[in-house]
Amino acid sequence: KRVVAFISGGGSNMLALAKACEAADYPAEIVAVFSDKPQAGGLAKAEALGIPTRVFERKTFSSKAEHEAAILGALSEIDPDLICLAGYMRLLSGDFIRAHEGRILNIHPSLLPLFPGLHTHQRALDAGMKVAGCTVHFVTEGMDEGPVIAQSVVPVMIDDTADSLAARVLTVEHQTYAAALKLVASGSVFMRADGSVERLTSE
Ligand code: GRF
Repeated sequence: KRVVAFISGGGSNMLALAKACEAADYPAEIVAVFSDKPQAGGLAKAEALGIPTRVFERKTFSSKAEHEAAILGALSEIDPDLICLAGYMRLLSGDFIRAHEGRILNIHPSLLPLFPGLHTHQRALDAGMKVAGCTVHFVTEGMDEGPVIAQSVVPVMIDDTADSLAARVLTVEHQTYAAALKLVASGSVFMRADGSVERLTSE
């Protein structure tokens, strides 16, 4: 399966997916990396791996609709099977999602449905959570609420700060996203028309 990854920052999740794709039996390849930020550190990481990159800077477009139209146009040229949002910090419109329904994955640094949105690690600490983690889900119109594909749990340590917890979660994000993409790219897991997730495997 051919994948386009969307990034806004360091791209460590995109890099983890690209590394996983290097395995001979891995059923996906990253064919392009899109970013909404020209300074995104992940762009250099993608280019170092020979992956084509495209930048769609929001302020160079007159509206959100124009911005998304440019991205959708580039996507239609590439015609990917899947889109992986990897640290992409922009909400996609319903029209955009419907154009690729069931084919957009996202990773979120919390155990959804707990802590959708931003500052997930500080909120988990403030709530006194003893575990934290990440979620890979299909993207639907609502923010961080699509059907779950995979989750991983990490312990919260007594002396954790948001940064130390974020670092522990980020490590499992990489493993979890690679595992989730493999399940979807292999056809073992897919989103049904009614929005539920079908699992053909016990993994
Ligand atoms: C990660 O915690 C990811 O879950 C969140 O952005 C952070 C940085 O991701 N969405 P990356 O290093 O840019 O992949």
